[in-house]
Amino acid sequence: MVLALVGLGCSGKAGSAVPVSAVTGQHPTTWLADHWADFVQTPDQCRTCHGSTSDPASTGGISKVSCFSCHTKGVEHPGNWADAAQHGALGAELAPVANVVGVPPAMAGFAHCSKCHGSTYDNGPAVSCKSCHTKAPHPDKPWIASSTKATSHVNAALGNAPECAKCHTAGANSHIKPLVTPPAGTTPGCFNNTLCHGMGIPAGA
Ligand code: HEC
Ligand code: HEC
Ligand code: HEC
Ligand code: HEC
Ligand code: HEC
Repeated sequence: MVLALVGLGCSGKAGSAVPVSAVTGQHPTTWLADHWADFVQTPDQCRTCHGSTSDPASTGGISKVSCFSCHTKGVEHPGNWADAAQHGALGAELAPVANVVGVPPAMAGFAHCSKCHGSTYDNGPAVSCKSCHTKAPHPDKPWIASSTKATSHVNAALGNAPECAKCHTAGANSHIKPLVTPPAGTTPGCFNNTLCHGMGIPAGA
């Protein structure tokens, strides 16, 4: 009954049918790699057949395929994710983890956040980082630990530097600029003049 209501193909628009073949009752062969995009757009569509996407006790639904069978830690952000100590320290600031084909990705590193929050962190299907942070996809400047601020950019793993480079190449958006221009093509790093700091961290940094 339910399967018969679901048409072939999918335009990806909100409210449109999820791609499940009315003939075979199966998703397309590329589905394992791209099902996440439809989920982020319209999560309710998945729940009609797969049950809960947040409660492991009521998952599976009529499809009998549980999201938790592969995503052992769940498919949604944890409930306390809005805390800086969670999405910041235990998410964006972690070292990026390389994707392994067929394995759900680790929620780590700025670049991974941009998959759903957008390449400029305010242009993806998921909520803009700037809806809370207003100016950047991280706390306002100077973003260094002080008596009033607990958080600091120094806690971001160095592996995130290529992502910082989107906005901070040659000291852009920063009051600290490198004194030397590095050779063209230098891999972005925190202390090699590509972003804000040179070999030694300048005074006043
Ligand atoms: C009309 C019912 C239906 C809807 C709606 C539906 N699914 Fe499925 N899904 C199934 C069935 C049936 C299977 C098992 C057969 C298959 O693998 O295609 C399945 C399997 C899967 C699998 C496992 C595929 C594999 O290769 O092992 C994933 C992942 C999945 N669905 C994700 C989703 C997501 C994400 C959504 C929402 C965007 C969604 N499904 C919506 C019926 C549905
Ligand atoms: C058969 C195993 C399997 C099942 C079942 C499955 N997934 Fe996935 N899921 C994956 C894999 C593999 C990826 C990585 C795809 C990629 O980006 O290459 C993934 C990625 C995702 C992502 C993106 C995560 C990220 O951090 O990039 C979301 C969201 C997601 N799945 C939602 C769902 C939902 C919702 C269901 C249940 C309706 C579901 N998945 C069921 C294997 C599965
Ligand atoms: C697979 C897609 C996906 C990825 C990858 C992803 N997010 Fe999200 N994020 C969402 C969606 C969808 C929402 C809105 C619904 C929700 O809160 O789960 C969201 C919401 C949020 C919120 C608001 C939470 C709240 O309770 O208001 C924060 C903060 C956030 N994400 C941070 C991050 C950070 C940091 C990363 C990278 C470490 C990241 N996200 C990666 C999809 C994603
Ligand atoms: C629901 C609101 C909200 C959203 C959405 C949000 N943040 Fe945050 N984030 C905060 C708050 C509040 C803090 C801590 C306050 C501060 O220091 O400015 C914080 C802190 C951080 C920190 C610093 C953490 C630390 O311990 O040093 C990083 C990094 C960060 N957010 C990244 C992101 C990224 C990347 C996104 C988007 C993917 C995002 N945030 C979206 C509310 C949010
Ligand atoms: C999408 C663009 C963007 C990305 C990506 C980004 N930033 Fe920023 N950053 C900004 C903007 C815009 C400001 C200025 C914010 C303000 O005015 O408060 C800023 C300010 C800062 C400051 C304060 C500069 C000052 O003059 O005091 C630091 C430190 C910083 N960013 C570090 C980082 C690090 C480390 C990364 C990578 C992990 C990063 N940023 C990624 C846009 C970005």
